[in-house]
Amino acid sequence: MPSLADQHIVLGITGGIAAYKSAELTRRLMDHGAQVQVVMTDAAKAFIAPLTLQALSGRAVRDTLLDPSAESGMGHIEIARWADRLVVAPASADFIARLAGGMASDLLAAVCLATSAPVVLAPAMNQGMWRKSATQRNIATLKADGVTILGPASGEQACGDVGPGRMLEPGEIISHLTHSGQAKALDGTHVTITAGPTWEAIDPVRGLSNHSSGKMGYAVAAAAAAAGAAVTLVSGPTALDPPPGIQYRPVRSAEEMLAAVEQDIEACDVFIGVAAVADYRPAQSENSKIKKNAESVTLELVRNPDILARVAQQQKRPFTVGFAAETDQPIAYAREKLHNKGLDLIAVNQIDEANNPFGSDQNRLVLISKNDEIDLGRDSKSALAEQLISEIAHRYHGPHSA
Ligand code: CTP
Repeated sequence: MPSLADQHIVLGITGGIAAYKSAELTRRLMDHGAQVQVVMTDAAKAFIAPLTLQALSGRAVRDTLLDPSAESGMGHIEIARWADRLVVAPASADFIARLAGGMASDLLAAVCLATSAPVVLAPAMNQGMWRKSATQRNIATLKADGVTILGPASGEQACGDVGPGRMLEPGEIISHLTHSGQAKALDGTHVTITAGPTWEAIDPVRGLSNHSSGKMGYAVAAAAAAAGAAVTLVSGPTALDPPPGIQYRPVRSAEEMLAAVEQDIEACDVFIGVAAVADYRPAQSENSKIKKNAESVTLELVRNPDILARVAQQQKRPFTVGFAAETDQPIAYAREKLHNKGLDLIAVNQIDEANNPFGSDQNRLVLISKNDEIDLGRDSKSALAEQLISEIAHRYHGPHSA
């Protein structure tokens, strides 16, 4: 049986160039057995003709809130009741703002407000509009209201910009709709992840840091979110955009990272320390730039807190996972760290000529627990992150190994 058989899906289309993808989305929803009622805003009609969507869905497109002929038939309340799910793709910045404000100023917004069916939005807009704090505030409001936000993806945009704001592809939206009824491995859990390097300031322009692009940690955060977890990503400075649908806490120093981790560690079920935390920081950080007057300077360094060990030592500790990058005897050193820090699991990568993961999209990982050792092999960081999350979920739900 097709995976969306007989589901009533209201497909809302708002104004944006990505509206052309909605025709393909309609066709694929129909292929999966869904009944599709398209509702368009006026702006959407400037990008794609209602007739196209009518032909694909086999139903007249609805676009008017106060339409006397329709109100006596299927008005906005009827559409809202008919829907098993409401999918708005593309969802423009303007529509998102109206929805977050609880407005019912056109048919689609009124249906979204009136329905008790789950609402899913696939945002699409210019990257600057997506990044604006107003849009991010609106997205946070909608998420808190239980609306599911899919994407947006990052990449080259129709306007020539590069960044987050591209609507997900119809296949990705369909995949969410067909899988969202199924239980996921980390449903109902809260996962906190540290990523990236830390920056330990010497003065306002200089500092100590570690080599880390953040790619592995961000991939782990995306994989945990895809597995159904509520994810908090505490990240040192990187050039990456945080994955969609997670709580993001940017920090700079190890001390800031620890404070951000401790904020809600009691609610945390799984902690994964991927960050390359600087082990030492300058004993003193100068408020003004140090001038090069002296022939030599001595920098006194003090130990930073070990965030991972602190988490693992808590009385009500989460399932705790560490990372280790080693050049010599990786397995032996990783085992030592597993034991000394009291971890449930450690992921180790050996750094050598065949594997230099810094900044790369590839890595090679071996997972080590008290009882076993699994070589995940060499793969993309996102594929390794998925495997790691699946191993963590399996062990988290079983007996802890530490
Ligand atoms: N870590 C941490 N806080 C620190 C240092 C490390 O949370 N201050 C975490 C990292 O996120 C990673 C693991 O601990 O998960 C790395 O262990 P660590 O013993 O610090 O590795 P190295 O720094 O490589 O240790 P060493 O230099 O002793 O090999």
